[in-house]
Amino acid sequence: MTEIPAEREFLGSKPREHLTKVLTRTDPIEVSPDGDLIFDGYKAEDLLSEFGSPLYVVSEQTLRENFRRIKGGFERLWPNKVVVMFAIKSNNNPAIRAVIHQEGGGGDCFGLGELHSTFMGGADPDRIAMNGSNKTEAELRAAIEKGVNVNIDAVGEIGMLDTICADLGKVGSVALRIKCSPDSLVSSSSDYLGLARDVRTFLLREKWGFSVDAAVELVPEILKCRNLRMRGFSLHTPRFTQNPGLFATCTRAFAEAVIRIRDTTGYVPELIDIGGGWPRDRDPESRKHLLNTSSVENFAEAAVASLLDTFNIRRMPVPELRLEPGRFIVGNAVMLLGRVGQIKRDCGEVWVNVDFSTNNLPRIDTSGSAYHFLPASGMDRPYAEVSQIVGSTCIDSRMADNWPVPKLAMGEPVAILDAGMYADSASTQFNSVPRPATVMISNGAVHMIKRRETVEDLYRNTSVPEHLLPK
Ligand SMILES: Cc1ncc(COP(=O)(O)O)c(C=O)c1O
Repeated sequence: MTEIPAEREFLGSKPREHLTKVLTRTDPIEVSPDGDLIFDGYKAEDLLSEFGSPLYVVSEQTLRENFRRIKGGFERLWPNKVVVMFAIKSNNNPAIRAVIHQEGGGGDCFGLGELHSTFMGGADPDRIAMNGSNKTEAELRAAIEKGVNVNIDAVGEIGMLDTICADLGKVGSVALRIKCSPDSLVSSSSDYLGLARDVRTFLLREKWGFSVDAAVELVPEILKCRNLRMRGFSLHTPRFTQNPGLFATCTRAFAEAVIRIRDTTGYVPELIDIGGGWPRDRDPESRKHLLNTSSVENFAEAAVASLLDTFNIRRMPVPELRLEPGRFIVGNAVMLLGRVGQIKRDCGEVWVNVDFSTNNLPRIDTSGSAYHFLPASGMDRPYAEVSQIVGSTCIDSRMADNWPVPKLAMGEPVAILDAGMYADSASTQFNSVPRPATVMISNGAVHMIKRRETVEDLYRNTSVPEHLLPK
């Protein structure tokens, strides 16, 4: 699919029409008759006036709807239990975790920090998995103490876990992470999302997971450990395609790996965890502005068919299914609001400065994510010019490239959609810019769930040695 430049797609319309073209089914967004952007019942301008700018705004309702949608999408197809485990790396706010816990969701966490935020929001340990390719003794110990599942990703972890469990007098619940990079991914398909042309080599070179050959050797080692309970296998395939069939070649390879391990070792898994990477309808990380043609339901159908076909043909009992979606659950549940700053017209270009930056949406810099930028008032004004929407830091910080805007004025409220995933949790304080506050809208009430940082917060952990102190 060739990407249509944003200015061609949306110029000639109005922000209201632009928004209508890209709205998805769980977006809590509408435009008032006066042309104001409303997020989960609240006018963007009112939120900014009350809580300051820039501001992340979370919709509790959208979190719940996204969770139910992906869970339901798999439950209607899978003949055994389905557990949805929210990848907290995508957004580590404990209030968001708490909503997922109330919905009955589990979690995927990485290291002590995410284990901490997971339990701050509430967690049933059996539905939590700890991932990581280099887990420390302290991390493994904390995981076993809490009773969460460990996805083993290093040979050395097996002995470490067995010793820790013996020491604590506990049985550790473990799964083995598998690597799948099927040969069929070698073709130079135009379906790949700029991640890499040779996706097979890309997946093979990732540090995570064990090849099936290695797994066949390791499973008996794990089964020998008196203090470990081997539950099954895990896989995570990063988002690399908009084609569900291509994605499912990885889950099919996973099922084949599980069968080969059974045939060689006799081990039958109680659960399989197929990780995250599930696409959203509006998908900034696809680097495209128009909606995806395949939904998460299409991806679920393709992945489930690949697993069940393979298991059924080889008479493998269908295990419990676990997933670790991050972006799908939280992506559109958060909007980033801010205000227009200086506007410069020169060299035939228009630069619209805003008071947030790629500090707050780092995936623009790190993976070329393409977000929708909208004025949050006057949404019935026609788009009048193509501009560069630039953030306030001293790097390029291009929030939107060649982007249509109406005639904007300094101080106007503006919004970026899909600011829930890998935004605040991956944000930086470059140029010593404190990070924004976050509020959550829950049943018509607004709650502060993260206060705005101050400059003092940024320097709290630093000190100048006595002899260097300014006299
Ligand atoms: C092990 C694991 N699980 C889940 C996820 C979540 O992925 P996504 O947010 O694309 O669903 C990631 C993301 O990198 C991951 O590494």
